[in-house]
Amino acid sequence: MKKIIVLLAVLGLSSGAMADAYTKCAGCHGANGEKVALGKSKIIADMSKADIVAALKGYQDGSYGGPMKGLMAAQAKGLGDAEFSEITAKIGK
Ligand code: HEC
Repeated sequence: MKKIIVLLAVLGLSSGAMADAYTKCAGCHGANGEKVALGKSKIIADMSKADIVAALKGYQDGSYGGPMKGLMAAQAKGLGDAEFSEITAKIGK
């Protein structure tokens, strides 16, 4: 019985810490999108959720971005609607 409780506690902890689609962005943009990434980006926490998705789609198809859009194109690669929802659940207005 004790073992089962320990196991459940471990599982609970690890699922709580599981990465969502925004985790890899936090290093540059801050845990809550509050940073100017690499001294270049807008503060994405201040952007609307729709603008964030539009920017990410624009990085994917090359229609959006500034001098460092190549870097963000690599970040946005492979993101789909599920990831956009996870990201905008965390950041954006
Ligand atoms: C290695 C650092 C880095 C990582 C990781 C990163 N970004 Fe960025 N992001 C930047 C930079 C630098 C810019 C500005 C790029 C440009 O010149 O257009 C930017 C721009 C953006 C913009 C548009 C803001 C603007 O300035 O127009 C959004 C939205 C964004 N990032 C979201 C994300 C999301 C979501 C992720 C994770 C999937 C992510 N970024 C990961 C560095 C990063």
